[in-house]
Amino acid sequence: ERCIAIVLAAGQGKRMGGTVHKQYLDLGGKPILAHTLKVFEDSDLIDEVLLVTGADERGWVRKTIVENYGFRKVTEIISGGKERYDSVWNGLQNIDQREEKENTYVFIHDGARPFVNDVMLQRAYKEVRQSKACVVGMPVKDTIKIVNENLEAEETPERKRLWMVQTPQAFHASLIIEAYRKMMVVQHDHVTDDAMAVELMMQHPVKMVEGSYENIKITTPEDLRIAEVFLC
Ligand code: CTP
Ligand code: MG
Repeated sequence: ERCIAIVLAAGQGKRMGGTVHKQYLDLGGKPILAHTLKVFEDSDLIDEVLLVTGADERGWVRKTIVENYGFRKVTEIISGGKERYDSVWNGLQNIDQREEKENTYVFIHDGARPFVNDVMLQRAYKEVRQSKACVVGMPVKDTIKIVNENLEAEETPERKRLWMVQTPQAFHASLIIEAYRKMMVVQHDHVTDDAMAVELMMQHPVKMVEGSYENIKITTPEDLRIAEVFLC
């Protein structure tokens, strides 16, 4: 059995603004991405990490992050694509070339989520061995409304059934590769997470497992200030 993580760090951080892509911003003395990779490096569960980053950032990332912090599980630094799903697909194609796919699990994780921890990796592993597809997430705290083009509230989904989805999202390798292979040839602009590929293309259930309210994605400047607090 093999557990391979795909860590995504090929985004431009447009909602964060600024010149440095957010995954490289400093958080308590080291880049956000280094915090993220440390969790995978230290987890007994993870055999290997495929790091997906901007094509022209690869050399710099290898030196300043992978080598500098000694992340020995990072075996490949792969060029990302335009959208998140393009980056995931590039990572999955690397796994698709291998022989041992039948007993391989893939953990897809946002590089911009530095507060992933081993407890949630273990929970996801336990679930994915059983059901082949799971995501970590948490119950939403706010009431959520669906609004129309005029910002009029149209629907209020029952809060008890609403979960916010985080990463890691863990899948049996063949299942997620087939899901993406199918998805990439049909209309897929609206796909925002990996579970959607499995739900839509494979009609395969995806289980929710408990993440943590601290497992935030650093997206806008205020998230950085919250992250500083979580570090203490
Ligand atoms: N990501 C990626 N390739 C892309 C887009 C996103 O690898 N083409 C990664 C990001 O680096 C991030 C994760 O996917 O770690 C989640 O995406 P998001 O939070 O949307 O990051 P960005 O796309 O960088 O930010 P924004 O949408 O604000 O531009
Ligand atoms: Mg984005």
